[in-house]
Amino acid sequence: MTESRTVMDYILARRSVRRYQEREVERDKLELLLQAAMAAPAAANSEPWEFVVVTGQEAMDVLRSHLLFARYNAPAAIVVCGNPERANNTAARQFWVQDCSAAMENLLIAAAGLGLGAVWIGVYPLPSVINPVRQVLNIPDEVTPLGIAYVGYPAEEKPPRTRYDAYKVHWQVYELRKPRAKKKERHV
Ligand SMILES: Cc1cc2nc3c(=O)[nH]c(=O)nc-3n(C[C@H](O)[C@H](O)[C@H](O)COP(=O)(O)O)c2cc1C
Repeated sequence: MTESRTVMDYILARRSVRRYQEREVERDKLELLLQAAMAAPAAANSEPWEFVVVTGQEAMDVLRSHLLFARYNAPAAIVVCGNPERANNTAARQFWVQDCSAAMENLLIAAAGLGLGAVWIGVYPLPSVINPVRQVLNIPDEVTPLGIAYVGYPAEEKPPRTRYDAYKVHWQVYELRKPRAKKKERHV
C-alpha cells in the first residue's frame, strides 16, 4: 500500500484471509506485527500480553491439527496470550482480555498494511481450545492464550468494507427501537 493511504483504508482493508501462498513470512515483518500489537492501549498501562510466534511447516502442522476451526495453510501464527500476573494492579488484571484484544486488532490491521493476510482464530474462553494450545506450545497455567493470528501472504482477495449500520448507533442517549428481523449468520 502506498503512503497516501489513510488509516481508514487500512482498517477497511483488514479482512479475514484463510488461504495463503506457499511463502514464508520474513522475520522482520513478523517483528513489525509484534510492534503493532504492543502499541495497543492497555488498562492502567499494564501490558499483560505475551506472544508465542510459531513458524515452520512442522510446528504449524502440529498446531493446526489441534484447531478444528483453523485448518488453513498459514505459514506462521502469532498466539496472543494474557498473563494477568504482569498487570500492575487489580483493576488492570481484570482487563487483560480487552488489552489483548486491542493488541490482536492492531496486529491484524498492521498485517493488512504490510500486504499480508491474517485471520483471528478464537481461543479464549473455550477450554476445549485453550487446553490443547497450552499443551502444544508449553504455555504455563497462569498464562492464557486469547487468540491466534494466522499470518501469511494472501492467496485470496477480499474487498475492503465496513459494515456500518445506522440502526446500531445511538446519538446522545440509547433510543429504544423495534427489534429488526435477525440477519442470517454468515461465517465468511
Ligand atoms: C474472537 C474471534 C474469533 C474468531 N475465530 C475464528 C475462527 O476460529 N476461525 C475462523 O476462520 N475465523 C475466526 N474469526 C474471524 C471471523 O469469522 C471474521 O472476523 C468475520 O467473519 C468477519 O469477517 P472479516 O474479518 O473479513 O471482516 C474470529 C474472529 C474473532 C473476532
